[in-house]
Amino acid sequence: MTPDLPPSPGAGAADGPASGAAAFEAAGLTRSYQLEGVSVDALRGVDLRIDPGEFVAVVGPSGSGKSTLMHLLGCLDRPTSGTLRVNGVDVSTLSDTRLAELRNRAIGFVFQSFHLLARTPALENVALPLVYRGVPRAERRERAREALESVGLGHRLDHRPSQMSGGEQQRVAIARALVGDPRVVLADEPTGNLDTRNGAEVMAILDRLNAERGVAVVLVTHESEVAARAHRQIHVRDGLIEHDSGTAGGPPERGGRTGPSEAE
Ligand SMILES: Nc1ncnc2c1ncn2[C@@H]1O[C@H](COP(=O)(O)OP(=O)(O)OP(=O)(O)O)[C@@H](O)[C@H]1O
Ligand SMILES: [Mg+2]
Repeated sequence: MTPDLPPSPGAGAADGPASGAAAFEAAGLTRSYQLEGVSVDALRGVDLRIDPGEFVAVVGPSGSGKSTLMHLLGCLDRPTSGTLRVNGVDVSTLSDTRLAELRNRAIGFVFQSFHLLARTPALENVALPLVYRGVPRAERRERAREALESVGLGHRLDHRPSQMSGGEQQRVAIARALVGDPRVVLADEPTGNLDTRNGAEVMAILDRLNAERGVAVVLVTHESEVAARAHRQIHVRDGLIEHDSGTAGGPPERGGRTGPSEAE
């Protein structure tokens, strides 16, 4: 087992969502890629609301638009049309710099391929997002150490990703997503490259993050057991949401009742 998560210093501070705001609210979201004169419509009009503290799995066939959706939600990319609000803020009103700031403060992103610096020690990999925020070095190192301890890697601070197992690397990537104390973690197939045991450990970390800290988790997965662990499943097909087990205003299992339709 991994040790307890450290206290979350800045939770709910100024960077948190405006009260009542959805973590994500998308309307008519599309994303087309231009490829040698041919347009690929990866997303064709997605309406979606995800509230703070939800635990959502995004599933669907290969090429259906899952990663494209995650990149838009994660503010790593911009929609072709439609609107996307993150913590109540319409991202189309933000400059690239402000968008990067929003991403850095509000969202932690975990990629399947880890996206770590292979020859840089784990501690420095994890501290990197704090460099962009201007956090002083000593505090960066302390927070990176806490984040690595929270994913059970307190004994691997100076290891480089190139010297680590796949499961360890994925946990370093999760620690990096957590170090900025985000209200949302987006994970694109976080268990996809892992064996059963390492995959289960990564899921346990995401579970606890959601249950103990109220961090919203949105993950893409091909594995039905992983999807079943989430409290809401969104099925994507051909660039559209085909089925959504939860509804706007909070999924039933969470008892959130955060939506406006309290009277029902
Ligand atoms: N940078 C790009 N340029 C052109 N087409 C792209 C680009 N990225 C994705 N696509 C296309 O958009 C569609 C959706 O891709 P996406 O990566 O979102 O699928 P996915 O659901 O994540 O698939 P997988 O399960 O295989 O990861 C695919 O048809 C893909 O070929
Ligand atoms: Mg994908």
